[in-house]
Amino acid sequence: MNLIGSKMIETERLILRSSKMEEQKRLWEILMIPEVNKWYLVGAKKYANDPSHWTWEVQEKFYKSKVDKADNNDVFVWSVFLKPEYTNSGNEEVIGQISAQENGEDITIRDVGWYIDPNYQGKGYATEASKAMINYMFKKVEINAIFSSAVKDNIASCRIFDKLRFDKIGEVIEKSPYTFYDGLLTFSKYELTRDDYLNNENKRI
Ligand SMILES: CC(C)(COP(=O)(O)OP(=O)(O)OC[C@H]1O[C@@H](n2cnc3c(N)ncnc32)[C@H](O)[C@@H]1OP(=O)(O)O)[C@@H](O)C(=O)NCCC(=O)NCCS
Repeated sequence: MNLIGSKMIETERLILRSSKMEEQKRLWEILMIPEVNKWYLVGAKKYANDPSHWTWEVQEKFYKSKVDKADNNDVFVWSVFLKPEYTNSGNEEVIGQISAQENGEDITIRDVGWYIDPNYQGKGYATEASKAMINYMFKKVEINAIFSSAVKDNIASCRIFDKLRFDKIGEVIEKSPYTFYDGLLTFSKYELTRDDYLNNENKRI
């Protein structure tokens, strides 16, 4: 594995960059939208009954500490920017985040996560970003595998795993620390190994 950090990745419509403080407040705003944090918000359950925890005044310090580590070579998290020609404003905009976090002790096995501003969902941006990110992780960073999961009812996220040709390896029913929802949820579990990725590259989107 090559610990080369979150180098810039450019696609047709997007630029993926390591996190900087400039865009963090907008990312916080996106994460505070219920249709986004319904499925994904780190630390959600712990502070589910404490709205004061989620204010920018409190959150800013967490975002700062994340940005302080963003350029470390063992961090793989990108802010997703939309090129100006595709934004509503005509200026480059941050529209989400994508990551390939550690997934246990073996750092060559990663978990992936993503969210996109609802104003820009349904246009293929998460697919475009995730496709480029996993290519970087398998070919440049040379990880061995991605093990990840999404709530089965989260159709868009499950669809991305299918489109990227992950193997669906099962379902588990458990509580999620990443949502405010307090009950049990059914998660679809996905796996993609390096060999599978490299051997079937020509069949991928
Ligand atoms: C999951 C998420 C990142 C997808 O972002 P996106 O940019 O809209 O995704 P894409 O446009 O690339 O679409 C991916 C697929 O999902 C489908 N899709 C998108 N939104 C959908 C919706 N609301 N309902 C059903 N399908 C949907 C798309 O049609 C596409 O499939 P297709 O190519 O077969 O048509 C976005 O919905 C999101 O931020 N959700 C909240 C956070 C989240 O769930 N994170 C992941 C936790 S596991």
